[in-house]
This record gives sequence, structure tokens and C-alpha cells, in this order.
Amino acid sequence: MSDELKRGLEGVLVAESDLSYVDGEVGRLVYRGYDIEDLARGASYEEVVYLLWHGSLPTREELDAFAADLAAERAVDDDVLDTVQALADAGERPMAALRTAVSMLSAYEPEGDADPADLDATLRKGRRITAKIPTILAAFERARQGEDPVAPDPDLSHAANFLYMLTGTEPDEVSAETFDMALTLHADHGFNASTFTAIVIGSTMADVYSGVTGGIGALSGPLHGGANQDVMEVLQEVDASDKDPVQWVKDARDEGRRIPGFGHRVYKVKDPRANILEEKLRDLSESSGDTKWLDYTTAIEEYLTEQGLLDKGIAPNVDFYSGSVYDSLGIPVDMYTPIFAMSRAGGWIAHVVEYQEDNRLIRPRARYTGPKDSEFVPVDER
Ligand code: CMC
Repeated sequence: MSDELKRGLEGVLVAESDLSYVDGEVGRLVYRGYDIEDLARGASYEEVVYLLWHGSLPTREELDAFAADLAAERAVDDDVLDTVQALADAGERPMAALRTAVSMLSAYEPEGDADPADLDATLRKGRRITAKIPTILAAFERARQGEDPVAPDPDLSHAANFLYMLTGTEPDEVSAETFDMALTLHADHGFNASTFTAIVIGSTMADVYSGVTGGIGALSGPLHGGANQDVMEVLQEVDASDKDPVQWVKDARDEGRRIPGFGHRVYKVKDPRANILEEKLRDLSESSGDTKWLDYTTAIEEYLTEQGLLDKGIAPNVDFYSGSVYDSLGIPVDMYTPIFAMSRAGGWIAHVVEYQEDNRLIRPRARYTGPKDSEFVPVDER
């Protein structure tokens, strides 16, 4: 047994996985052998989830059946929708509302009594969770706007249906494709904090609802999924101030603030997902004629590059560009992290099932640094 302390588990190998490969030195991300660029441009979110859950890309027939099964599970029980409404009325934050609602979904799970070791049943539960998260999120956003939920449309893709349920209007092709690409890019990323959280929970053979609920909690933090919202808030702050983006970054650095959307535990170069989203943002900005966020993000990135941040391995991560892309789709800022969860649910479920196939309870140690010989004094004598 080693007594070497690895804070933050940095670089520690805890399992083997066939799901995603992240090369932080060259900026490469692979899902089950396929480059993220190829998947983002050529595969739908449903295709990628099939790949993650079943190990190979589906044939056309397999994909159609998988997508139809997923679409058939989108409806959410009225009790859950009532709770979503109550959470919106109480002013709950979207990630917290999602965490509560996903946890509640398990009460309506038709296979709730299935043995947690029955991994086929776990995948079916995972399918229900993945299908219902967009319905919950769209209903929550509409409830906040005083609008009734829009029922899911099983004829639309996972991505297009979410945008439809959010706005009540079927999205155009470019919006649906852009959103689908964003979902594909966020679907999996090795043993990141939220995935590891889901795996730790799964390693106790707790049910997959607990794993996904825990994953949502972990993803909500500003060091993880919360950064995409922070980036957009920075851009909006710059826009509302009399500062230009470079001045804002200079001041933030002088105050010792971290720049959201920069830095990564694994990537020491620009995140490949950031490159794809940057390109998408460029296309969208050029076709709409509104280049404001593109101009701001480019100015910030150029300035930080000149300052040598990229040379130190602190480069743009996926969150630096995703917010601007979501903004162009008309998605409210505090829904960005929930959208990350909507996509990452596919990865969490894949990892929980993969880990449970050869399960070992995760139980590390801490080096005890407290006292060992304190004398106990009864409460009334203290
Ligand atoms: N801005 C300025 N300096 C930074 C930043 C940043 N965004 N990120 C790291 N650094 C500096 C940090 O101050 C430290 O410098 P020094 O050694 O002089 O003290 C050095 O880089 C190493 O930082 P660290 O905290 O030891 O690195 P880490 O691996 O623990 O941090 C991170 C990774 C993502 C938490 C961090 O880069 C960060 O806080 N970034 C901003 C939040 C963010 O964008 N998060 C999204 C991550 S990617 C999507 C996801 O996984 O959800």
C-alpha cells in the first residue's frame, strides 16, 4: 500500500475503460476509437450514445430503432412536471431543479425493482433518464416564463425536439444541427469529476438514478460544467461595461481571478472541442452578421496567448465557445450547464454500466492528520 498522496487524484489510474480517450498533450478526443471531429461532423447524438452504450456504431436499422426507442420515452409523469413547476416558482436554479427532478423520476421507473446487477435493465433505465432530461429542462424553462410545457414530438431528433419543447417552434435545420453537434461534443470525456462521481456511486451497486443525480451535482460546480455559464456572464459583463474585452481580462488577471473557459486538468493545448465550437461560432456569426461574441472571445484568446498563458498549458477549453453558440440559438444563459448535463448523461450511464460489468467498490483513503489521543470529557463537563 503506497502512502504517496495524490491531491485531486491527478493522474491516478483507477480503472480501465473503452469509452473515451483524451490526449491532453496534442489535444485529441476519441470515443471508442472514433475521432471527435468525425463524430461531431458526421454522427448524431443518438448515434454517439448508441456507440457509447453498445460498443460500435449502429447500422441504419439499429440507429432508427434506437432513436425511436429513445423518443418513445420522452414523456414525463405529471407529478414530476408539477414539481418542476413548483421548483421554478420557488426560484430554484436550473441545475438544482434538474437534480431534484431526475432523482424524482425514479419513483415512476417501471423497472424500479430490477436487480442493480441486471445491466440490461440499467441501460433501459438509462434510456428513460436520457430521454426525459430534455423534457424536464424545457418544462422548467417554460415554467419560469409562465408558459405551459410543450409535449415532446417523437418525430424530431433528440436535439431538435429539445429546441422545439423549449420554444414551441420547430427549429430550422442549422439550429438543430448546431445543437446536435454541441450534444455530441459533450457526451463523454474520460474520468472527469461528474463521471467519476457517477462511477463512485455506481460502484456501490446503487441504482443508475443515484449515479446520474450525483453526476448532475458534480457537474454544476464552476470548476466543471458551470464554467460555460461563467464565460457568457463575463462576455455580457464586458458588453455592459465601458471596458473592452482585453481590458476586462487584464483587470481580472490583476485581481488574481481565473478566466473561465481557460485551463484544463488534462489538456495542455487547446481543447479539440473548443476548436470545433469556435469554427461553428464563426459560421453562425458570419451568417447572422452579429460577430460580437466572436470578436470578444477572439480578442481574449489572442491577448492571453500573447501573455504566454497558452505556453503554460492554460488554453481555451470546451466551455470557452459553447456559451456563445448556445446564445446564438436563443438559449438562456443559466440553461447552458443543464444542457451539458443533458448530453453528458449518455456518458455517465455508459461509464456506470461499463464499470459495473467488472465492479469493484471504490474506497480510497485519506492520510489522517488529526489528533489520536484526545481525552473524552462528557458534554456537561466541557
Ligand atoms: N485562468 C488563469 N489561470 C489559470 C486558469 C484560468 N482559467 N486555470 C488554471 N490557471 C493557473 C492556476 O492559477 C495555476 O497557476 P499557479 O501554478 O501559478 O498557481 C495553474 O494554472 C494550474 O492551475 P490548477 O488549479 O492547479 O490546475 P487544475 O488542473 O486544478 O485546474 C481547472 C483545472 C479547469 C479547474 C482550472 O483550469 C480552472 O479553474 N479553469 C477555469 C474554470 C473552467 O473553465 N472550467 C472548465 C473546465 S473544462 C470543462 C469541464 O470539464 O467541465
